Amino acid sequence: MILESHKLKKSYRDKGRLISAVHDVSLRIAAGEVAAFLGPNGAGKTTTIKIIAGLLRPDEGWVRICDRNPHKNQSALKLLGAVLEGNRNLYWRLTPAENLEYFGVLRGLSPRIVQQRSHVLLERFNLAHKAQTIVGALSRGMQQKVAIMVALIHQPRLLLLDEPTLGLDVEATEEVKQLVREIASQGCAILLTTHQLAIAEELADRIAIINQGKVIMEQATHDLIRQFSGSAYQIELEVSLDPARRLKLENLGTDIETETKLRVSNLAALYQVLALLKPLPVLRIQKEEANLTDIFLKLVREQ
Ligand SMILES: Nc1ncnc2c1ncn2[C@@H]1O[C@H](COP(=O)(O)OP(=O)(O)OP(=O)(O)O)[C@@H](O)[C@H]1O
Ligand SMILES: [Mg+2]
Repeated sequence: MILESHKLKKSYRDKGRLISAVHDVSLRIAAGEVAAFLGPNGAGKTTTIKIIAGLLRPDEGWVRICDRNPHKNQSALKLLGAVLEGNRNLYWRLTPAENLEYFGVLRGLSPRIVQQRSHVLLERFNLAHKAQTIVGALSRGMQQKVAIMVALIHQPRLLLLDEPTLGLDVEATEEVKQLVREIASQGCAILLTTHQLAIAEELADRIAIINQGKVIMEQATHDLIRQFSGSAYQIELEVSLDPARRLKLENLGTDIETETKLRVSNLAALYQVLALLKPLPVLRIQKEEANLTDIFLKLVREQ
């Protein structure tokens, strides 16, 4: 495991009151895995990420990054790159090239290595043409990419991304998604938070949902979708149903939604219905799949 967190607890003191922000959060992420951390506003995602990044000390529980505890062993921080909310890991008055140089050297890399890696990163992130423009004058999507580059300069094993696509346009979002995939495919473990559930569904191998400081579900993405998907199929025809077939289908208990759309409750019924439909041309047959938004809302509301 690249990342293990065990029963993290954190409370904040607010006007004398103790607010429990994170309660028993345990997470595990392997090399090459993308995990999405989802939850409503105030659920405790950023707090957890800050604890993992060594920026906040947990009241209880522990973190290990490649078996090293970042709260006890500073060397664990070398294995980690983080982009927090609002990419505050950048100097806005410096250029991307200068940011990479500054943070690379700060991380203990030689100037020569920093220069080589900066060159590769700027090319790969498609930002070579902006290498000498100050970060403050870049678009939000470009700034986000620079923030991710800076987090990667020391080649971490774990990358933490807090809302990496917040406020990005369609194209920049696609680009960041593609980069996250690439970084993971090279063996980096990635923990990201997002409120864009379609992105989590597409990118993440595993999903953890946190609500009011507690992890209420943690599973492989496709297992989760399958678990909530049921067994129904939708059939779409290229032509309208004739009255005789329609009657037979109704007698079988088929749900006839329109002249060309049917819904059957399970696989056995699907084959019965197909036998009845033969030889009408079928446009598509599709299993009904739950989407992450429905699942998320159901789980969070049930709690
Ligand atoms: N510095 C702080 N002082 C006091 N309370 C805080 C502090 N930071 C966070 N909290 C509280 O801790 C809880 C968790 O906040 P956190 O920022 O971790 O949520 P989040 O899941 O990242 O939310 P969002 O989706 O809005 O980013 C909230 O109740 C928040 O008000
Ligand atoms: Mg947050």
